[in-house]
Parts: sequence; C-alpha cells; structure tokens
Amino acid sequence: MGGVLTQLFPGRPHFTEANVDSLQGKVFIVTGGNSGVGYELVKILYAKGARIYVAGRSKTKITSAIEGIKEIPTETPGELKSLIVDFNDMTTIAACARDFLAQESRLDVLWNNAGVSMQPPGSTSVQGYERHMAVNCLGPYLLTKLLLPILKQTVQISPEGSVRVVWATSGIVDMSPVPGGLSLEEQQSGKHAQDMNHNYSASKAGNWFLASELDKRVREAGVVSVAQSPGTLRTAGMDKAPFLMRAMLSIVMHPPKMGAYTELWAGLSRDVTIEDGARFIIPWGRWHPSPRKDCLESLKSKKEGGTGLAADFWDWCEEQTKSYV
Ligand SMILES: NC(=O)c1ccc[n+]([C@@H]2O[C@H](COP(=O)([O-])OP(=O)(O)OC[C@H]3O[C@@H](n4cnc5c(N)ncnc54)[C@H](OP(=O)(O)O)[C@@H]3O)[C@@H](O)[C@H]2O)c1
Repeated sequence: MGGVLTQLFPGRPHFTEANVDSLQGKVFIVTGGNSGVGYELVKILYAKGARIYVAGRSKTKITSAIEGIKEIPTETPGELKSLIVDFNDMTTIAACARDFLAQESRLDVLWNNAGVSMQPPGSTSVQGYERHMAVNCLGPYLLTKLLLPILKQTVQISPEGSVRVVWATSGIVDMSPVPGGLSLEEQQSGKHAQDMNHNYSASKAGNWFLASELDKRVREAGVVSVAQSPGTLRTAGMDKAPFLMRAMLSIVMHPPKMGAYTELWAGLSRDVTIEDGARFIIPWGRWHPSPRKDCLESLKSKKEGGTGLAADFWDWCEEQTKSYV
C-alpha cells in the first residue's frame, strides 16, 4: 500500500511541455495514441515538431484523432502517422512492426501506452488468453521485441539515455491482492481469475515485470526501459467501471493531460537515466517512494535471492508469442 496517497494526490506537475525542447528529427510511437492519456501525449509531442506514429486498432479513430490534433494551432507542427495494430489479436502485430520499419530508420521512444481495463470475467483474446493479459502484456511484448533492433540502432546516433521503452503500469499494482504481482498458473486456459480488477492488476504488474526484464537485456546496448503509472484519470478506460467505483474514484480523478505529463517525464526527462531502468514512475513524473516488496522480490532472479517470477513471466510471453513474429 506504500505510496498510494501520494499517487492519488500528486500535487502540481514539474515536467510539462514548457520543459521540452524541440523534438524535430525525433521519431516516436505512442500505442493507444488516439484517446485518453496517449492522445494528450501525442498532442504535446506534435507541438514540439516530432514525427509520431499513432498506433491503434481503429483506422477511423486514429484518423479522427490525427485530424483533431492538426487543427490545434502550433508554431512548430510535427508529423502524424497511423499504425494499425490490435493487441487482442497476435496475428496483427508483426505486420504493424513491418509497416513502421518500412518507413523509418530510427525510433527514439516507444510508449507502450495502449491498454484495457474493466474487461468482464471470461473475456479472452482471439488466441484465447485472458484479455487484460493479452492486450496489456503479450501484444506489447511482441511489438517491443520486433522493434528492438531499430531502438538499438537509434542509440548509436542519439544522446545517452534518450532512447527508451516506456511501459504503462498502474497504481493498482500497490493494492492488488495477487501475491508477487501475478500468477502464471492463472494464465492457463480454464484457470483465468473471475475478477476483472484482479486480472487488470496482474497485467499491470506484468507491465512492470516486462520493463524490468527488458532493462536486463538492453541496458548494455543503451536503451532505457521503465514503467510508469500515469495517474487516476478521467478517460474512456474508466467508463466501464461500475457506478459505485466511478463515483468513489471521481474524487481523485484528474484530467488525462496530467497523465500525459507522467508519460512525458518517463520518455523525455534527462532525470531518467540508463541506471534507472526497471524503475516504477508515479504521477506526474517521480520515482515510486516504496514499491511493493513482494513485487521487488519477483523482479530479482533466484540467484539474487528473489523469486524470479518476472523472468518466468518474460519467458512465458516469449513462448506464447514466438510463432507470431
Ligand atoms: N485512466 C487511468 O486512470 C489509468 C490509470 C493507470 C494506468 N492507466 C493505463 O494508461 C494507459 C492508457 O489508458 P487510458 O486511461 O488513456 O485509456 P483509454 O482512453 O481507454 O485509452 C486506451 C487506448 O488503448 C487502445 N487499445 C485498447 N485496446 C486495444 C487493442 N486491442 N489494440 C490496440 N489498441 C488498443 C484504445 O483504443 P480504442 O480507442 O480503439 O479503444 C485507446 O487508444 C493504459 O495502459 C491504462 O491501463 C490508466
């Protein structure tokens, strides 16, 4: 439960568009950039001159988001492009990566922002995985893996610590009842938990685990991999919450733009360095003061005295996705 209050009432943001220099020449991907936090982030990046790929499952929604952003007057407009991917269906992911790689020779930051919550018990992906786990973890894992070569290539021509993968986790991880963060056994068909918050928080612990395991694999190559919880925000993701839950959360909900500041800090602040890989960022761009101890144990390998659960989870994601490359 440590650090919950400071996440619900984060005070004023200290890293906003005012702190970001020109982003001309930079190339970014924001998954789920057509709505909510991702949309607010894309607006900021666009106004700083970057080329941004808005990745999502609906061409219509992406086009409408892009058109909306282009109408906002700005002195240094960037460029907006669409990428189609449905994380609920693993067969769409390699095509998305190929589409991007056919157009670009650099990728500065990949914001793995897209995600689902409040999926009713029994919801599964096209391939039969628990839906939160599929959309929030398996899909982003595969997309990231396919984009790693270009991220590493970008390190060679970029300032130290500026090439990053940012994973969207959540403050719910601090409150989740799942020991160690998630259960691999529950991911088996027929064993999915029958509680949507349980499944969502497991997938968000999974996002933190993926940030940490990726860090172990890419730190030496110069890519920063961090997890960020954007905040409790008034977005479409919350619309499906039960009435009572929404009513209670409305007291602590903030506009989505505030969450974009968390993502902005994670992706662009010079305060985030290569040594910070695997760390958990909280609203509006700060380090978690007291990450959950059992999850920290999950991040450590058995050799380091931990449980090795995050490494097992990484291996599980690799096993489930390897035939979709
Ligand atoms: N809002 C909060 O309070 C909060 C708190 C903690 C963490 N987060 C995390 O922040 C991230 C952004 O959430 P948000 O609040 O901005 O929610 P949102 O407004 O619902 O945005 C989610 C985005 O993900 C996309 N998406 C959903 N399923 C997808 C799929 N199968 N394939 C590709 N894209 C898909 C959505 O596309 P469509 O428009 O097509 O649905 C949308 O663009 C999520 O990872 C969420 O878990 C949010």
